[in-house]
Amino acid sequence: MESSAKESSTSEKPLQNIVLVGFMGSGKSSIGRELHQNLGYELIDTDHVIEQQTGKSIPEIFEQESEAIFRDYETALLEQLLSNKTSKHIISTGGGMVCSPKNQTLLRQLGFVVWLQCSSEEIFERTSQNKNRPLLQCDDPMHAIKSLMLKRSPYYQETAHLEVNTTGLSLGEVSCGILESARYYYGSS
Ligand code: S3P
Repeated sequence: MESSAKESSTSEKPLQNIVLVGFMGSGKSSIGRELHQNLGYELIDTDHVIEQQTGKSIPEIFEQESEAIFRDYETALLEQLLSNKTSKHIISTGGGMVCSPKNQTLLRQLGFVVWLQCSSEEIFERTSQNKNRPLLQCDDPMHAIKSLMLKRSPYYQETAHLEVNTTGLSLGEVSCGILESARYYYGSS
């Protein structure tokens, strides 16, 4: 597995969650489910929680409210998870969650942050049949994927404790690698 682990820059130990970040279609939901099965931690999908809390789908929020308001919902949800001291959960986040400095700090306070990486071709393949991602509903989704990936990569990198290139790996292999690193991070191995 191609991965690298970084030390937490905060002196206080974060809550004991595994937080998955990465581009749309990078496998956060599938790997989140695999981690849930292997570790037994409950799974929180931030997009689903926002949909439940607002009673609207993500495309409806983007269309009827705005992307900026969706970003506020994302920040409010991270703050809510922190103030509830949510721990021992797998938290799968929307692909744009890392884009604000405030969210980057909140994500790292929530736990061990893992960046799931894969190629733009894989992302395109996984997202092309799905109409639920407003940012990719355009004439040239491949161009949108490449330019957003370029812009966001530094944010994912700054936020994550661990980077995992998932290309060619099974869900089980990715999950095993994440769990091993998380145990090391929390000092329980
Ligand atoms: C977004 C990713 C989506 C969802 C929304 C915006 C983004 O989540 O939060 O469409 O900005 O990358 P997934 O990464 O789960 O597709």
